[in-house]
Amino acid sequence: MPTSSSLAAEARGLAKAAKAAEQAGNIEKARSLYLKAADKFNQASSLNPDKLDKNTQHGLAKHFYEHGRSLGKQPASIGGSSQALDEPLLSKDELIISEKPDIGFSDIGGLDSVKEEMKKAIIYPFTHKKLYDYYNQKPGGGVLLYGPPGCGKTMIAKAAATECDADFINVETSIIMSKWVGESEKSIKQVFSVARECNRAIVFFDEFDAVAGRRGEIEDYAKRIVNELLQQMDGMDKNDNILVLAATNEPWAIDPALRRPGRFKKLIFIPPPDLEARKAIFNIYLRKLPLKNDVDAGALSNKTEMYSGADIKAICDDAAEIPLQEALEGNEARKITPDDFSTVLSNRRSSIIPWQRLAVEQVRKSGEEDIFKEIIDLEK
Ligand SMILES: Nc1ncnc2c1ncn2[C@@H]1O[C@H](COP(=O)(O)OP(=O)(O)O)[C@@H](O)[C@H]1O
Ligand SMILES: [Mg+2]
Repeated sequence: MPTSSSLAAEARGLAKAAKAAEQAGNIEKARSLYLKAADKFNQASSLNPDKLDKNTQHGLAKHFYEHGRSLGKQPASIGGSSQALDEPLLSKDELIISEKPDIGFSDIGGLDSVKEEMKKAIIYPFTHKKLYDYYNQKPGGGVLLYGPPGCGKTMIAKAAATECDADFINVETSIIMSKWVGESEKSIKQVFSVARECNRAIVFFDEFDAVAGRRGEIEDYAKRIVNELLQQMDGMDKNDNILVLAATNEPWAIDPALRRPGRFKKLIFIPPPDLEARKAIFNIYLRKLPLKNDVDAGALSNKTEMYSGADIKAICDDAAEIPLQEALEGNEARKITPDDFSTVLSNRRSSIIPWQRLAVEQVRKSGEEDIFKEIIDLEK
């Protein structure tokens, strides 16, 4: 069985040979080698357990694939193929989600205080700009949402964009990482220059840990991304109507320099849903299902402590699946019963608990118990 690293080594060899062939003007050979390198990087990526590494390999695969393909299209005589690499990496249209994400605060169960905090951090600086100016408060800067997986960080970010009148630039970290590694920092620069052209913009980095790791622990090209992010955030002035929003399940992995004043000055914890919130989330998803009268959101929320919103949605989907399957096998289509939910619950574990174990350990290890107090407090 080839391993991720043996495949990556092979891929690097092929890429090197491809480049040599290209420089020697042997375009046909270069093209074929680039495509082979891309294929190997893809295989390496699919086997790699390390997330950052995986993204990088995937990015390289994509780069070599595109570059190889572009060689086929160009007449070999003019201009050299490096031209493709000098073009802007991402176009404005690619970056700005002009249609608002169709998700509002009302689609999110619980998290009332987070919604209020988001209004203060993200929405009021735009809607009450004069007041902020009057008190000489710089509206920009960043907000980092962190917490267990599946509890609504991405949802909250998208809903915030809907609730305020700003362009929403959803920076998919996979796009940043999938560009030629030597140029990843260029795409960060571009994101911010596009944001400056907007009247108001929210720049959103989901899975932020993938692009903003601690510089002591990551590779050189990734350090350049973090440095570029720092420069961009420090370079913002109060005429830049830009708010930076980021979300991560692994806040301890983010470079601490990004948390200094003027940068991500606000950290917002998105907690596991409490009893009340679980009930609200159950209600959101149960509403759409044919239920026996005795299916009760209150009882279900009592049985799902430390389950995430995503877990709850999955529980509802799985419960519906039972009578659906029966009906597909020829039985009468019946309503969903409390027993269906019991069956599902006995098979499904919380996805928060494994995260919590890791999170507490990592926060202790980094000595940042004060900063991520909410994570430590989960154990109580
Ligand atoms: N508070 C919530 N209310 C309703 N649905 C939720 C909630 N939290 C999570 N979900 C469900 O779980 C999915 C994943 O949530 P997401 O916001 O992507 O989690 P995170 O970004 O924190 O990992 C959502 O698409 C939604 O279906
Ligand atoms: Mg998310």
